[in-house]
Amino acid sequence: MILGIETSCDETAVAVVREGVDVRSNIVHSQVDLHAPYGGVVPEVAGRSHMDRILPLYRLALEEARISESDITAVACTNRPGLIGCLLVGLSVAKTIALVLDVPLIGVDHLQAHVHAAFMTRPALPLPLLSLVASGGHTNLYLVARPGHAQRLGRTRDDAAGEALDKAAAMLGLGYPGGPHLERVARAGNPDAYPFKRTMLGKDSLDFSFSGTKTALLYQLRGPGLEREMPELSSKEVADYAASYQEAVMDTLVRKLGRAVEQSSARSIAIGGGVACNQRLRDMLSGDPRLAELDAVFPPMSLCSDNAAMIAGLGYVRLSEGRVDDLALEAFAR
Ligand code: KG4
Ligand code: ZN
Repeated sequence: MILGIETSCDETAVAVVREGVDVRSNIVHSQVDLHAPYGGVVPEVAGRSHMDRILPLYRLALEEARISESDITAVACTNRPGLIGCLLVGLSVAKTIALVLDVPLIGVDHLQAHVHAAFMTRPALPLPLLSLVASGGHTNLYLVARPGHAQRLGRTRDDAAGEALDKAAAMLGLGYPGGPHLERVARAGNPDAYPFKRTMLGKDSLDFSFSGTKTALLYQLRGPGLEREMPELSSKEVADYAASYQEAVMDTLVRKLGRAVEQSSARSIAIGGGVACNQRLRDMLSGDPRLAELDAVFPPMSLCSDNAAMIAGLGYVRLSEGRVDDLALEAFAR
Protein backbone atom coordinates (compact mmCIF):
# COMPACT_ATOMS: atom_id res chain seq x y z
CA MET A 1 0.00 0.00 0.00
CA ILE A 2 2.10 2.87 -1.32
CA LEU A 3 1.45 6.52 -0.64
CA GLY A 4 2.35 8.67 -3.66
CA ILE A 5 3.11 12.37 -3.49
CA GLU A 6 3.51 14.70 -6.47
CA THR A 7 4.24 18.45 -6.29
CA SER A 8 6.68 19.03 -9.15
CA CYS A 9 4.71 21.78 -10.90
CA ASP A 10 1.22 23.19 -10.48
CA GLU A 11 -0.74 20.15 -9.29
CA THR A 12 -0.72 19.06 -5.68
CA ALA A 13 -1.42 15.34 -5.75
CA VAL A 14 -1.61 12.50 -3.24
CA ALA A 15 -2.61 8.92 -4.01
CA VAL A 16 -2.76 5.47 -2.49
CA VAL A 17 -1.96 2.49 -4.75
CA ARG A 18 -2.02 -1.15 -3.74
CA GLU A 19 0.50 -3.51 -5.32
CA GLY A 20 1.43 -1.04 -8.01
CA VAL A 21 -1.80 -1.17 -10.00
CA ASP A 22 -4.83 -0.96 -7.75
CA VAL A 23 -5.52 2.77 -7.45
CA ARG A 24 -7.32 3.19 -4.14
CA SER A 25 -7.36 6.99 -4.24
CA ASN A 26 -5.96 9.55 -6.65
CA ILE A 27 -6.53 13.11 -5.44
CA VAL A 28 -5.35 16.05 -7.51
CA HIS A 29 -5.68 19.70 -6.70
CA SER A 30 -4.99 21.81 -9.78
CA GLN A 31 -3.67 25.33 -9.26
CA VAL A 32 -4.70 26.36 -12.75
CA ASP A 33 -7.00 29.16 -11.52
CA LEU A 34 -4.19 30.64 -9.42
CA HIS A 35 -1.83 30.86 -12.39
CA ALA A 36 -4.32 31.70 -15.14
CA PRO A 37 -4.09 35.49 -14.61
CA TYR A 38 -0.33 35.26 -15.28
CA GLY A 39 -0.68 33.02 -18.36
CA GLY A 40 1.82 30.53 -16.92
CA VAL A 41 2.97 28.88 -13.70
CA VAL A 42 4.49 31.31 -11.18
CA PRO A 43 6.94 29.18 -9.15
CA GLU A 44 6.59 30.95 -5.82
CA VAL A 45 2.80 31.00 -6.01
CA ALA A 46 2.90 27.28 -6.85
CA GLY A 47 5.17 26.41 -3.93
CA ARG A 48 3.02 28.32 -1.44
CA SER A 49 -0.14 26.66 -2.71
CA HIS A 50 1.42 23.19 -2.35
CA MET A 51 2.17 24.09 1.30
CA ASP A 52 -1.46 25.07 1.83
CA ARG A 53 -2.98 21.99 0.27
CA ILE A 54 -0.77 19.01 0.79
CA LEU A 55 -1.73 17.94 4.31
CA PRO A 56 -5.51 18.17 3.77
CA LEU A 57 -5.02 16.20 0.53
CA TYR A 58 -3.04 13.57 2.43
CA ARG A 59 -5.94 13.12 4.87
CA LEU A 60 -8.41 12.95 1.99
CA ALA A 61 -6.32 10.37 0.10
CA LEU A 62 -6.28 8.05 3.13
CA GLU A 63 -9.99 8.60 3.71
CA GLU A 64 -10.93 7.78 0.11
CA ALA A 65 -8.69 4.73 0.13
CA ARG A 66 -10.33 3.71 3.42
CA ILE A 67 -7.02 3.06 5.09
CA SER A 68 -5.27 4.41 8.15
CA GLU A 69 -1.68 5.61 8.38
CA SER A 70 -0.55 2.28 9.79
CA ASP A 71 -1.55 0.57 6.50
CA ILE A 72 1.02 2.55 4.50
CA THR A 73 4.02 0.37 3.54
CA ALA A 74 6.14 2.99 1.78
CA VAL A 75 6.09 6.62 0.65
CA ALA A 76 6.98 7.43 -2.98
CA CYS A 77 7.55 11.05 -3.91
CA THR A 78 8.57 12.92 -7.07
CA ASN A 79 12.07 14.28 -6.45
CA ARG A 80 12.93 15.25 -10.07
CA PRO A 81 12.53 17.06 -12.42
CA GLY A 82 10.40 20.11 -11.61
CA LEU A 83 10.27 23.51 -9.99
CA ILE A 84 12.66 23.21 -7.08
CA GLY A 85 10.55 25.16 -4.57
CA CYS A 86 7.60 22.91 -5.45
CA LEU A 87 9.53 19.63 -5.27
CA LEU A 88 10.87 20.56 -1.84
CA VAL A 89 7.38 20.89 -0.37
CA GLY A 90 6.32 17.39 -1.42
CA LEU A 91 9.65 15.87 -0.52
CA SER A 92 9.66 17.41 2.98
CA VAL A 93 6.18 16.06 3.65
CA ALA A 94 7.12 12.63 2.22
CA LYS A 95 10.22 12.46 4.42
CA THR A 96 8.23 13.44 7.50
CA ILE A 97 5.59 10.78 6.88
CA ALA A 98 8.25 8.12 6.17
CA LEU A 99 10.10 9.10 9.35
CA VAL A 100 7.05 9.15 11.59
CA LEU A 101 5.58 5.89 10.21
CA ASP A 102 9.02 4.29 9.95
CA VAL A 103 8.47 3.10 6.36
CA PRO A 104 10.77 3.29 3.30
CA LEU A 105 11.04 6.50 1.26
CA ILE A 106 11.32 6.23 -2.52
CA GLY A 107 12.33 9.12 -4.80
CA VAL A 108 10.63 8.92 -8.20
CA ASP A 109 11.44 10.55 -11.55
CA HIS A 110 8.31 12.36 -12.76
CA LEU A 111 8.87 11.54 -16.44
CA GLN A 112 9.58 7.86 -15.84
CA ALA A 113 6.33 7.86 -13.86
CA HIS A 114 4.38 9.32 -16.81
CA VAL A 115 5.76 6.45 -18.93
CA HIS A 116 4.89 3.96 -16.22
CA ALA A 117 1.20 4.95 -16.24
CA ALA A 118 0.83 2.67 -19.30
CA PHE A 119 1.79 -0.40 -17.23
CA MET A 120 -0.70 0.55 -14.54
CA THR A 121 -3.38 0.51 -17.23
CA ARG A 122 -2.14 -2.69 -18.91
CA PRO A 123 0.42 -4.56 -16.78
CA ALA A 124 1.14 -7.24 -19.38
CA LEU A 125 1.95 -4.98 -22.33
CA PRO A 126 4.06 -6.57 -25.09
CA LEU A 127 7.61 -5.24 -24.81
CA PRO A 128 9.39 -3.19 -25.83
CA LEU A 129 6.96 -0.33 -25.39
CA LEU A 130 7.33 2.92 -27.31
CA SER A 131 6.12 5.79 -25.15
CA LEU A 132 5.53 9.46 -25.84
CA VAL A 133 5.34 11.83 -22.88
CA ALA A 134 4.07 15.23 -23.99
CA SER A 135 3.25 17.86 -21.40
CA GLY A 136 3.66 21.57 -20.74
CA GLY A 137 7.30 21.10 -19.82
CA HIS A 138 8.47 18.04 -21.74
CA THR A 139 8.15 16.18 -25.02
CA ASN A 140 10.12 12.95 -24.84
CA LEU A 141 10.11 9.62 -26.65
CA TYR A 142 11.09 6.50 -24.75
CA LEU A 143 11.63 2.82 -25.39
CA VAL A 144 10.87 0.53 -22.45
CA ALA A 145 12.26 -3.00 -22.48
CA ARG A 146 11.65 -3.47 -18.74
CA PRO A 147 8.88 -1.67 -16.81
CA GLY A 148 10.29 1.16 -14.73
CA HIS A 149 13.37 1.54 -16.94
CA ALA A 150 12.52 3.82 -19.85
CA GLN A 151 15.35 4.71 -22.20
CA ARG A 152 15.03 8.11 -23.87
CA LEU A 153 15.14 8.10 -27.68
CA GLY A 154 14.32 11.76 -28.33
CA ARG A 155 13.36 15.05 -26.73
CA THR A 156 12.29 18.52 -27.71
CA ARG A 157 15.04 20.93 -28.64
CA ASP A 158 12.98 24.00 -27.82
CA ASP A 159 9.32 24.28 -26.78
CA ALA A 160 7.42 21.33 -25.36
CA ALA A 161 4.31 20.32 -27.34
CA GLY A 162 2.00 21.52 -24.55
CA GLU A 163 3.90 24.77 -24.27
CA ALA A 164 3.54 25.32 -28.03
CA LEU A 165 -0.22 24.73 -27.71
CA ASP A 166 -0.45 27.03 -24.68
CA LYS A 167 1.39 29.85 -26.46
CA ALA A 168 -0.73 29.54 -29.60
CA ALA A 169 -3.90 29.60 -27.53
CA ALA A 170 -2.67 32.78 -25.83
CA MET A 171 -2.06 34.39 -29.24
CA LEU A 172 -5.59 33.47 -30.28
CA GLY A 173 -7.03 34.97 -27.11
CA LEU A 174 -8.10 31.61 -25.67
CA GLY A 175 -7.80 30.64 -22.01
CA TYR A 176 -4.98 29.06 -20.02
CA PRO A 177 -3.80 26.32 -20.15
CA GLY A 178 -4.30 26.47 -23.87
CA GLY A 179 -4.33 22.80 -24.95
CA PRO A 180 -7.91 21.97 -23.91
CA HIS A 181 -9.22 25.37 -25.14
CA LEU A 182 -7.53 24.94 -28.49
CA GLU A 183 -8.98 21.44 -28.80
CA ARG A 184 -12.50 22.66 -28.02
CA VAL A 185 -12.36 25.57 -30.50
CA ALA A 186 -10.63 23.43 -33.16
CA ARG A 187 -13.67 21.15 -33.43
CA ALA A 188 -15.45 23.84 -35.45
CA GLY A 189 -12.39 24.65 -37.58
CA ASN A 190 -10.77 23.42 -40.77
CA PRO A 191 -7.42 21.70 -40.05
CA ASP A 192 -6.26 22.40 -43.63
CA ALA A 193 -7.06 26.12 -43.60
CA TYR A 194 -3.46 27.09 -42.77
CA PRO A 195 -0.83 24.48 -43.69
CA PHE A 196 1.69 24.99 -40.88
CA LYS A 197 5.02 23.31 -41.50
CA ARG A 198 5.86 20.13 -39.56
CA THR A 199 9.44 20.36 -38.31
CA MET A 200 10.97 16.90 -38.72
CA LEU A 201 14.68 17.82 -38.14
CA GLY A 202 17.27 15.35 -39.58
CA LYS A 203 16.14 12.33 -41.62
CA ASP A 204 16.43 9.93 -38.69
CA SER A 205 16.02 12.35 -35.82
CA LEU A 206 13.62 11.45 -33.04
CA ASP A 207 13.96 14.90 -31.45
CA PHE A 208 11.19 17.47 -31.65
CA SER A 209 11.05 21.18 -32.39
CA PHE A 210 7.92 23.29 -32.12
CA SER A 211 9.25 26.84 -32.03
CA GLY A 212 9.06 27.14 -35.84
CA THR A 213 5.38 26.21 -35.87
CA LYS A 214 4.71 28.71 -33.10
CA THR A 215 6.58 31.47 -34.96
CA ALA A 216 4.72 30.59 -38.18
CA LEU A 217 1.43 31.27 -36.41
CA LEU A 218 2.73 34.54 -35.01
CA TYR A 219 3.90 35.69 -38.47
CA GLN A 220 0.67 34.55 -40.06
CA LEU A 221 -1.21 36.78 -37.59
CA ARG A 222 1.08 39.79 -37.45
CA GLY A 223 3.16 39.61 -40.66
CA PRO A 224 6.76 38.37 -41.10
CA GLY A 225 8.31 41.42 -39.42
CA LEU A 226 5.52 41.69 -36.84
CA GLU A 227 4.53 44.85 -38.70
CA ARG A 228 0.86 44.49 -37.81
CA GLU A 229 -0.93 44.66 -34.49
CA MET A 230 -2.69 41.44 -33.49
CA PRO A 231 -5.76 41.40 -35.81
CA GLU A 232 -9.36 41.13 -34.66
CA LEU A 233 -10.28 37.55 -35.62
CA SER A 234 -13.74 36.22 -36.37
CA SER A 235 -14.74 33.07 -34.50
CA LYS A 236 -14.42 31.17 -37.80
CA GLU A 237 -10.84 32.37 -38.19
CA VAL A 238 -9.96 31.48 -34.59
CA ALA A 239 -11.42 27.99 -35.13
CA ASP A 240 -9.46 27.53 -38.38
CA TYR A 241 -6.20 28.70 -36.80
CA ALA A 242 -6.77 26.46 -33.77
CA ALA A 243 -7.60 23.43 -35.92
CA SER A 244 -4.67 23.95 -38.31
CA TYR A 245 -2.19 24.57 -35.52
CA GLN A 246 -3.36 21.64 -33.40
CA GLU A 247 -3.18 19.46 -36.51
CA ALA A 248 0.44 20.50 -37.16
CA VAL A 249 1.53 19.78 -33.57
CA MET A 250 -0.27 16.43 -33.32
CA ASP A 251 0.78 15.38 -36.82
CA THR A 252 4.41 16.05 -35.90
CA LEU A 253 4.06 13.89 -32.79
CA VAL A 254 2.43 11.06 -34.76
CA ARG A 255 5.01 11.19 -37.58
CA LYS A 256 7.83 11.01 -35.05
CA LEU A 257 6.18 8.03 -33.38
CA GLY A 258 5.95 6.38 -36.80
CA ARG A 259 9.63 7.05 -37.38
CA ALA A 260 10.48 5.62 -33.95
CA VAL A 261 8.52 2.44 -34.72
CA GLU A 262 10.54 1.97 -37.92
CA GLN A 263 13.79 2.42 -36.00
CA SER A 264 12.95 0.25 -33.01
CA SER A 265 11.53 -3.16 -32.31
CA ALA A 266 8.54 -1.67 -30.46
CA ARG A 267 5.56 -4.00 -30.04
CA SER A 268 3.32 -1.64 -28.14
CA ILE A 269 2.76 2.08 -27.91
CA ALA A 270 1.53 4.44 -25.19
CA ILE A 271 1.12 8.15 -24.64
CA GLY A 272 1.30 10.14 -21.42
CA GLY A 273 1.46 13.72 -20.15
CA GLY A 274 -1.29 16.33 -20.40
CA VAL A 275 -1.20 16.49 -24.22
CA ALA A 276 -2.14 12.79 -24.28
CA CYS A 277 -5.63 13.91 -23.18
CA ASN A 278 -6.12 15.29 -26.71
CA GLN A 279 -8.72 13.33 -28.65
CA ARG A 280 -7.42 14.41 -32.05
CA LEU A 281 -4.01 12.94 -31.14
CA ARG A 282 -5.64 9.69 -30.06
CA ASP A 283 -7.63 9.51 -33.32
CA MET A 284 -4.55 10.20 -35.43
CA LEU A 285 -2.61 7.47 -33.61
CA SER A 286 -5.34 4.95 -34.26
CA GLY A 287 -5.44 6.02 -37.91
CA ASP A 288 -1.72 5.70 -38.66
CA PRO A 289 -0.99 2.38 -40.43
CA ARG A 290 2.48 1.99 -38.87
CA LEU A 291 1.09 2.53 -35.39
CA ALA A 292 -2.21 0.70 -35.83
CA GLU A 293 -0.32 -2.62 -35.94
CA LEU A 294 1.00 -2.10 -32.42
CA ASP A 295 -0.81 -2.75 -29.21
CA ALA A 296 -1.86 0.77 -28.19
CA VAL A 297 -2.52 1.96 -24.66
CA PHE A 298 -4.19 5.24 -23.84
CA PRO A 299 -4.19 5.51 -20.06
CA PRO A 300 -7.27 7.24 -18.62
CA MET A 301 -7.00 11.04 -18.31
CA SER A 302 -6.57 10.65 -14.54
CA LEU A 303 -3.26 8.86 -15.16
CA CYS A 304 -2.18 11.04 -18.13
CA SER A 305 -2.09 14.49 -16.61
CA ASP A 306 -0.03 15.11 -13.49
CA ASN A 307 -1.06 12.79 -10.66
CA ALA A 308 0.40 10.89 -7.73
CA ALA A 309 -0.97 7.44 -8.59
CA MET A 310 1.70 7.09 -11.29
CA ILE A 311 4.31 8.08 -8.68
CA ALA A 312 3.08 5.39 -6.28
CA GLY A 313 2.91 2.88 -9.18
CA LEU A 314 6.53 3.40 -10.14
CA GLY A 315 7.44 3.55 -6.43
CA TYR A 316 6.12 -0.01 -6.15
CA VAL A 317 8.50 -1.16 -8.91
CA ARG A 318 11.43 0.53 -7.16
CA LEU A 319 10.46 -1.01 -3.83
CA SER A 320 10.24 -4.47 -5.46
CA GLU A 321 13.74 -3.91 -6.85
CA GLY A 322 14.98 -2.99 -3.37
CA ARG A 323 15.82 0.51 -4.59
CA VAL A 324 14.73 2.68 -1.68
CA ASP A 325 16.18 5.99 -0.53
CA ASP A 326 17.00 7.41 2.86
CA LEU A 327 16.08 10.70 4.49
CA ALA A 328 19.03 12.42 2.81
CA LEU A 329 17.20 12.17 -0.54
CA GLU A 330 17.57 15.40 -2.52
CA ALA A 331 15.37 17.18 -5.05
CA PHE A 332 16.65 18.04 -8.53
CA ALA A 333 15.17 20.65 -10.87
CA ARG A 334 16.56 18.78 -13.93
O1 KG4 B 1 1.30 16.72 -17.80
P1 KG4 B 1 0.60 18.03 -17.54
O2 KG4 B 1 -0.74 17.97 -16.85
O3 KG4 B 1 1.51 18.98 -16.69
C1 KG4 B 1 2.85 19.19 -16.99
O4 KG4 B 1 3.11 20.07 -17.82
O5 KG4 B 1 3.68 18.46 -16.40
O6 KG4 B 1 0.48 18.77 -18.95
C2 KG4 B 1 -0.08 20.05 -19.09
C3 KG4 B 1 -0.06 20.40 -20.57
C4 KG4 B 1 -0.47 21.83 -20.87
O7 KG4 B 1 0.42 22.38 -21.82
C5 KG4 B 1 -1.86 21.67 -21.48
O8 KG4 B 1 -2.20 22.69 -22.41
C6 KG4 B 1 -1.74 20.33 -22.16
O9 KG4 B 1 -0.97 19.54 -21.28
N1 KG4 B 1 -3.07 19.70 -22.34
C7 KG4 B 1 -3.62 19.45 -23.54
C8 KG4 B 1 -4.91 18.92 -23.29
N2 KG4 B 1 -5.09 18.86 -21.93
C9 KG4 B 1 -3.95 19.35 -21.37
N3 KG4 B 1 -3.14 19.63 -24.77
C10 KG4 B 1 -3.93 19.27 -25.80
N4 KG4 B 1 -5.18 18.78 -25.65
C11 KG4 B 1 -5.71 18.58 -24.43
N5 KG4 B 1 -6.95 18.09 -24.29
ZN1 ZN C 1 3.84 15.89 -15.95
